Amino acid sequence: MYRTHTCGELRIADAGKQVTLAGWVQRSRKMGGMTFVDVRDRYGITQIVFNSESDAALNDAAAKLGREFVIQVTGLVRERESKNKNIPTGDIEIIAQQLNVLNESATPPFTIEDDTDGGDDLRMKYRYLDLRRAAVRKNLELRHDICQKIRTYLSDLKFLEVETPVLIGSTPEGARDFVVPSRMNPGQFYALPQSPQTLKQLLMVAGFDRYFQIVKCFRDEDLRADRQPEFTQIDCEMSFIEQEDILNVFEGLMKTLFREVKGIDFNEPFLRMTWQDAMKYYGSDKPDLRFGMKFVEIKDIMQGHGFSVFDGAEYIGAICAKGAAHYTRKQLDALTDFVKRPQIGAKGLVYARVEADGSVKSSVDKFYDQASLQSLKERMQAEAGDLILIICGPNAMKARKQLCELRLEMGNQLGLRDKNKYACLWVIDFPMYEWSEEENRLMAMHHPFTSPKPEDYGLLDSDPASVRANAYDMVINGVEVGGGSIRIHDAVLQAKIFKILGFTPEKAQQQFGFLMNAFKFGAPPHGGLAFGLDRLVSLFAGLDSIRDCIAFPKNNAGRDVMLDAPAPLDQKQLDELELAVLAKDVK
Ligand code: AMO
Repeated sequence: MYRTHTCGELRIADAGKQVTLAGWVQRSRKMGGMTFVDVRDRYGITQIVFNSESDAALNDAAAKLGREFVIQVTGLVRERESKNKNIPTGDIEIIAQQLNVLNESATPPFTIEDDTDGGDDLRMKYRYLDLRRAAVRKNLELRHDICQKIRTYLSDLKFLEVETPVLIGSTPEGARDFVVPSRMNPGQFYALPQSPQTLKQLLMVAGFDRYFQIVKCFRDEDLRADRQPEFTQIDCEMSFIEQEDILNVFEGLMKTLFREVKGIDFNEPFLRMTWQDAMKYYGSDKPDLRFGMKFVEIKDIMQGHGFSVFDGAEYIGAICAKGAAHYTRKQLDALTDFVKRPQIGAKGLVYARVEADGSVKSSVDKFYDQASLQSLKERMQAEAGDLILIICGPNAMKARKQLCELRLEMGNQLGLRDKNKYACLWVIDFPMYEWSEEENRLMAMHHPFTSPKPEDYGLLDSDPASVRANAYDMVINGVEVGGGSIRIHDAVLQAKIFKILGFTPEKAQQQFGFLMNAFKFGAPPHGGLAFGLDRLVSLFAGLDSIRDCIAFPKNNAGRDVMLDAPAPLDQKQLDELELAVLAKDVK
């Protein structure tokens, strides 16, 4: 038997017992004739004491232990004289009687402590060592716990977990596919699923009624803190339901998770906001509602005073930062630089402070008299001590997005984006289509299987850009944690939607014939959604990046630095696949 107990288990009630523990040497220190060794496993840390007076040989052996050696120790549990209140085993220690080195360790490249000295790259290269750190391990434990609770909630509601294939066909729309060559079918490629969307719809045609899967998805897209090339979805689909049923079931799931994992009860229904309002008031389809600073349109007040920047603008909007009138010139210049960064692209920033006496001082005072500035103050519902920040632009959508970035930055600067506070909402009534500058055509905003709102069917031919979809996203603290839609289940309507998206009937048949054919055999009304598990876990854990809740994540360049992947293939393998590599600078 390697151990009688784990390193996190022993308490004062165990004093006097002889026990055997096994684990890694976290640290050891010599004090006089004694050696203290902290031994660690997944469950915790226990202090072992070696005493040269009672056993000099044993103490000598202990003194030779290096960091991360794997050891087995037998000894007696004893109450500690100086207790460590910071760890659950801090009341006891083990007086060693026997030491067995199970394996030695090279000196680790960084310290395996909560506050490690390892940089990001180093930690990723030696991720198996990084995963020994409690801070990282806790995130994976939380991930497991969340998955368990999701499985229980959905299984109790008769959702069936069904696996769908990973080697599927490439589909246009959405992000780019990762493709896989096939030796048995030279010149032909599988694609890894961006999501099991069409397959889960086929499961509905098959009569499964309620499906879920905790499933890997793959997207070859630019990476950000909340995006990985492979990530996990909680993918769900239901038959014989309407949008309201879906929102209720999955709001219930989220409330259950908050209650059981975080101990937070949401008694009120989640707020619902149309996409139109989200864009108008927050410049984003995923507004962070932990704080206010709702956009206010002020074009009517600000135009016609000879300030050409405003006079020529299509949109002038402002936010009111409560209590931020103390911002210095330097801070305001920094904010101006912030909005002028190429990623944000605003031309500038106008500000107005409400002074203690209620008067307003602005950066454009020479164009506005106090009466106009007072109207601004009133419109903004600003009070003494508040700061009004104004953005304008020739394109309302772009200006709103810039104001959104400014609002989030102010939220950060004023400490309003508290990680322990959760603001959940549904964004509903997304548009069916969005214009793609790149492709110069309408693209499905969600995906081409999403059904239009029946009341907007009439607009499909005349004004497709204004058709709304039965599509919804769940947004928590400005993060899109999940999204879905009611699907089209009618082959004729599906064909029409493909036509609006620019597919010829032949192309639609070639790409999606399997689905449209299936719809001819009695497809039930259905709909669903998928949560991003990585985003959900990082939100619950208060992490800045989803990488920290993934055991072996990719870096920002999409590389696994530990496995050194992706990598070139051997010529033999290429020959077998009948592939030639054209890339010039393969590293
Ligand atoms: P969607 O594309 O909105 O919908 O994806 C669903 C959820 O998956 C998460 N997500 C990601 N997480 C990490 N890295 C990524 N690269 C990434 N991309 C998406 C997000 C998102 O809300 N089939 C549809 C769902 C449906 O209609 O039922 C779909 O995939 O949290």
